[in-house]
Amino acid sequence: MISLLDLNKLHGPIQKELDEAIHRVVKSGWYIGGEEVEKFEASFAAYCQVQHCVGCASGTDALELILRAYEIGEGDEVIVPALTWVSNAEVVKSVGATPVFADVDSSYTIHPGSIRSRLTSKTKALIAVHLYGQPCLMDEISKLASENELVVIEDCAQAHGAKFNGTKVGSLGHAAAFSFYPTKNLGAMGDAGCVTTNNKAIAEKIRLLANHGQTVRDVHVLSGTTSRLDPMQAAVLDVKLKYLDQWNAKRRENANSYLQLLAGSEVALPEIMKNTSHVFHQFVIRSENREGLRKKLEENNVQTAIHYPTPLNKMLFFGEEVSCPNAEAFGESVVSIPIYPSLSLSDLQTISELLLLNDLPSK
Ligand SMILES: Cc1ncc(COP(=O)(O)O)c(C=O)c1O
Repeated sequence: MISLLDLNKLHGPIQKELDEAIHRVVKSGWYIGGEEVEKFEASFAAYCQVQHCVGCASGTDALELILRAYEIGEGDEVIVPALTWVSNAEVVKSVGATPVFADVDSSYTIHPGSIRSRLTSKTKALIAVHLYGQPCLMDEISKLASENELVVIEDCAQAHGAKFNGTKVGSLGHAAAFSFYPTKNLGAMGDAGCVTTNNKAIAEKIRLLANHGQTVRDVHVLSGTTSRLDPMQAAVLDVKLKYLDQWNAKRRENANSYLQLLAGSEVALPEIMKNTSHVFHQFVIRSENREGLRKKLEENNVQTAIHYPTPLNKMLFFGEEVSCPNAEAFGESVVSIPIYPSLSLSDLQTISELLLLNDLPSK
């Protein structure tokens, strides 16, 4: 079986280091905050070339904490791509604001022209999701945001280590949300996330919001919540962070192999934008006969997934339907095939050969 991701294979070579980190935390008797969390926050801030990293409980919480820190709420609109994970609209709803959906372009990231077309006097922020590991067009997005005084929130859940014009994601907007969900390029062993920013006041506010607005024991200065990164996850993440660049390089190498092996195939291959360093969280192809393609791969023991079948503009509980033709077309045709670092060239060849044979079962 070639699965979409095999964490045991990925962790195998570093199992000893992971076990040591976990046992160290177990033995410490200290399970909330403290040195392990501070150490990882410092390592990850340095990795992202930002001044502040604040750990929290998930990527979804990271996004919501940013919105709350910027006091985005009722009466405000936040522009969100239509093709993404559902969290991006949920968090906007959670703070009482309205998500407004913009279309994506052929790179699968939010299209600056579509953002412009959605601007109103109520627009306060936009969420730039670096989908599948490829950074958004951050120069154009930052320009239009500064012209319109918008807060730029990066969603880096799928893009740890990716770069735009040589600069790491997580440092390209006002604040950035990361998820460390176990399947991410940098994944914890449970739920975890963080916010990165160069804004000290925002970092301090997020730290307060994530811990009941408490400055010192029993002194609360604002109404917050419980959303902390715990020492066990921080210790695991600190070990795995050392391998992130090497794993991302392997993902890129796998992607290059696919691009060569699949050059003559009928599937649409990912478009790699110039000036970006893509980290291939997912390798996403498109097929008019997606179900036939998935069936064939499944029968040959290759796992696939769809990210994402229903664009958010079609989830009517988020608000009025708007048209996002690219996101809608991609929702019907995208399929993710295995790309994770421990795959061998022969795995990639097997998958490519299956895709090159022109014998898909009918729709
Ligand atoms: C693009 C994107 N944003 C946000 C999230 C939310 O992260 P979490 O699952 O840690 O809440 C995810 C995770 O799946 C994601 O892929």
